[in-house]
Amino acid sequence: MPRADAPDPAVNDEHLVIEPTVLYVGTPVYLVVTENADGTANLAPASSHWALGRMLVLGLEADGQSAQNLLERPQLTVNFPAAKQWREVERLSAVTGRDPVPDAKADQYRFEPRKFELAGFSAQPSDLVSPPRVREAPLQFEGRVRRMTSGVDAGYFMVEVEVVRVHALPELNVPGTQHVDPHAWHPLIYSFRHFFDRGEQVGWTRKSPTAASLPDVSGRAQPEASRVARTPLEELERWESFGGTWALRELTDDGAIVSLCRCDGGEEVSRIVSADPAFVSRAAEQEVQS
Ligand SMILES: Cc1cc2nc3c(=O)[nH]c(=O)nc-3n(C[C@H](O)[C@H](O)[C@H](O)COP(=O)(O)O)c2cc1C
Repeated sequence: MPRADAPDPAVNDEHLVIEPTVLYVGTPVYLVVTENADGTANLAPASSHWALGRMLVLGLEADGQSAQNLLERPQLTVNFPAAKQWREVERLSAVTGRDPVPDAKADQYRFEPRKFELAGFSAQPSDLVSPPRVREAPLQFEGRVRRMTSGVDAGYFMVEVEVVRVHALPELNVPGTQHVDPHAWHPLIYSFRHFFDRGEQVGWTRKSPTAASLPDVSGRAQPEASRVARTPLEELERWESFGGTWALRELTDDGAIVSLCRCDGGEEVSRIVSADPAFVSRAAEQEVQS
């Protein structure tokens, strides 16, 4: 069998080559609050961002008031609205806090100094930074800009923000922990210029700190200790101990691929791909099944 990572040009490509006008595949909307020169707050919706550890990187247009404020006063709050608040967000889609409105935006935007009122949001004082939070946003980050880097075309900035405080509504918090409950949290997803709620959970990663309370293949809650790192063989044996079945899919000199299947319908839930000798030896007890 050919390796899955070796492209086979003989296999028909079902994808189309397209030229979409935007590449917004789907990220949560956030509301960035910055401080204007006169001490008032500016509020703007955005979605371009990613997070690693305590750092957030925001993609902000260079001619926006938010970016200008951050160059001069590098503190902000990043507030995440819930999916059901999309109408409030959309009320901010044609305004800027920049006066005069930059020429490039003049046909689509107007200056609005009172964006909280326009959206129907209210300001809430922050603990550690000067700009206020958006009271109605269930999840709020206070942050300080550590670096702003101009993009390749100077039309945008990459804003590296250190998050210094996180505020969450009580219903989003797993009681007795520092964790956000992913089942309770409904970010507003912006995908190809449409707003979405998230769908049903389809799975979770082994590092999830909140998966312990979820039922596993056997329907039993996973004990805390079940989330420690395991060898591939231990992973397989643990699956069996919960009543799951498995099937050997591939056995090569590079290792073995095993499908982990539900005990009820036999549906594949996950895979183990490993060259670990103990795992391969155990997997090889089965015949390869297609
Ligand atoms: C849903 C949504 C997502 C947006 N995403 C971004 C974004 O990621 N970055 C950005 O600079 N502008 C984004 N915008 C556009 C800004 O909100 C817009 O340029 C606004 O005028 C900025 O306000 P300001 O000039 O007061 O900063 C988005 C707008 C909406 C409605």
